[in-house]
Amino acid sequence: MTLWGGRFSSKLNDRAWDLNSSLLVDQRLTLQDIEGSRAWAGAIHQVGILSDKEHSSICVGLAAIREEFTAGRFSFAPSDEDIHTAIERRLTELIGEAAGKLHTGRSRNDQVATDFRLWMLEAIPALTTTMSDLQSALVEQAELAGETLMPGYTHLQRAQPILLAHWWLSHYWPLQRDQERLQDLTKRVSVLPLGSGALAGVPFDIDRLALAKSLGFAEVSQNSIDVVSDRDFAAEYLFCTTMIGIHLSKLAEQVILFTTAEFGLLELSDAYATGSSLMPQKKNPDVFELTRGKAGTLIGLLTGLLAVLKGLPSTYDKDLQEDKAPVFQATDTLHAILPVLAGALRTIKVKPVRLRNAIDSTMLATDLADYLVNKGVPFREAHAMAGQVIREAGDNSLEEISLEVYQKIGPFDEDVFQVFDPRMSVQKKNSIGGTSPQSVKYQIQRIKGE
Ligand code: ARG
Repeated sequence: MTLWGGRFSSKLNDRAWDLNSSLLVDQRLTLQDIEGSRAWAGAIHQVGILSDKEHSSICVGLAAIREEFTAGRFSFAPSDEDIHTAIERRLTELIGEAAGKLHTGRSRNDQVATDFRLWMLEAIPALTTTMSDLQSALVEQAELAGETLMPGYTHLQRAQPILLAHWWLSHYWPLQRDQERLQDLTKRVSVLPLGSGALAGVPFDIDRLALAKSLGFAEVSQNSIDVVSDRDFAAEYLFCTTMIGIHLSKLAEQVILFTTAEFGLLELSDAYATGSSLMPQKKNPDVFELTRGKAGTLIGLLTGLLAVLKGLPSTYDKDLQEDKAPVFQATDTLHAILPVLAGALRTIKVKPVRLRNAIDSTMLATDLADYLVNKGVPFREAHAMAGQVIREAGDNSLEEISLEVYQKIGPFDEDVFQVFDPRMSVQKKNSIGGTSPQSVKYQIQRIKGE
């Protein structure tokens, strides 16, 4: 049974049918479609299109379908073009003629947009919960790190000493912004399209506000033409998932680097590392590499949908059927990555000695300049003098240069050698957002809402 056979004299070519069918993708909207139909039945019952009896029989039928579906007993028929068709077909089998009244005033255009939004209203909290656990893993590592020091990098060159905890938390905040973005998106998802018909609205006096309420939407759409083709929410959602992917890939890349023999700052637990079929010594960071790789796939899903949306001529166009697969794939991708990543991060072993030894005295050159600033030297000059010290030292440590040499370069005193304590350097970065133990403690308190 198609929902549109009346004006056609022959059936659709088989392969065109396969191309047209979206059931494999949109059966994921089964429960939302049932829910939308239940609410729609209520709305058209209220305006007298359904009798009490028809209404309750539709409700009973839909409940039975829900039951079949959740018990895994619902079977699709070859004629089911999409999930909407499948459910109407089954409803007809179960309750007979009354089922034929359900689609009054409704189009699959407003129906599918409603189902998709309902789905997303559940998908967003599910995603944020999973993300929160990964964020907790980062906070746990930060707390475990205590006051452990590590080299901080810019341009991937050793720059200044930082707290390891500060580094862990630097990956918490991007994800927190992603969480906020998803929260903000929710209000644009929570707008009801149903009651817009195919494009022009409905000729019955439907109470759309009540309909929205019964489905849990915060608002109703204000323009039927717009809302049947509005997929901004899907594109925005994909932007959010892409941004999450990019943030995770950045974290992953750093973990991959830090676990190499060359860096040797972190070690993966065996439960989250893989071996090589050829080289017995290998311990590969596949989980992190896949995270980095999948960020590329996520970018593709976003740009793919944007390209589908570009230049669509009218309200609903079948191009829009391409909207769901990328959204589902992006969601599944993140649900595959996030928990594994959380586990992998929780079990990472830190190598504090390697971390500490990776901080050499040149990383305190800025502190050396700041030392001179405290003696009244303008920063530009102080910077040049510290540079001269670096040049003088060559391959040696800055601590090995004699005081005489220091004093030839600038107004240095005995106490210059105290500069080379990285702990002191870190402690001084004490304003909000800095790497001092106190600032990091405050950061953790902020995260935990203490
Ligand atoms: N399967 C379609 C989709 O996912 C449902 C809407 C079809 N509307 C239509 N007028 N053919 O977009």
